[in-house]
Amino acid sequence: MIVAVINGPNLNLLGVREPDVYGTVTLEQINERIEALAEELGIEVAICQHNSEGEIIDAIHQAGCEADGIVINPAGYTHTSVAIHDALKAVPIPAIEVHLSNILAREDWRHRSMTAIACEGIIGGLGAESYLLAVRGIVALAEGQS
Ligand code: DQA
Repeated sequence: MIVAVINGPNLNLLGVREPDVYGTVTLEQINERIEALAEELGIEVAICQHNSEGEIIDAIHQAGCEADGIVINPAGYTHTSVAIHDALKAVPIPAIEVHLSNILAREDWRHRSMTAIACEGIIGGLGAESYLLAVRGIVALAEGQS
């Protein structure tokens, strides 16, 4: 079982970026926690981060050929990207969207997710824990348990 974890723009700056909103945990620390969970679950994870929309779309296409499920934080593209929505729809594997923050408790324009409607589910507001729950969820979905 391979799970692709795809991170969008500005998430490379976690730890220093708006710590009042996103906390002080870095992407590297989140990735370490995901890798530890993967080991515990006996699965493989392929983690990436891209700042541009095209690279995120390429990563989704690649996951569609090589992975069993996708965990994606499209970050700022969440609220605008028809192209990432279409890419998620185009691949034959399930996806779960994650957010560190609770996007429904923030600015009105963050309340709409263009990308979550192409996913099986969405988990947000729990910081790094959102990713860990999403990995557990996608494994259950890919194994047909949910
Ligand atoms: C985010 C929420 C988005 O609205 C924002 O643009 C991000 C991070 C989150 O994880 O909380 O970059 O996806």
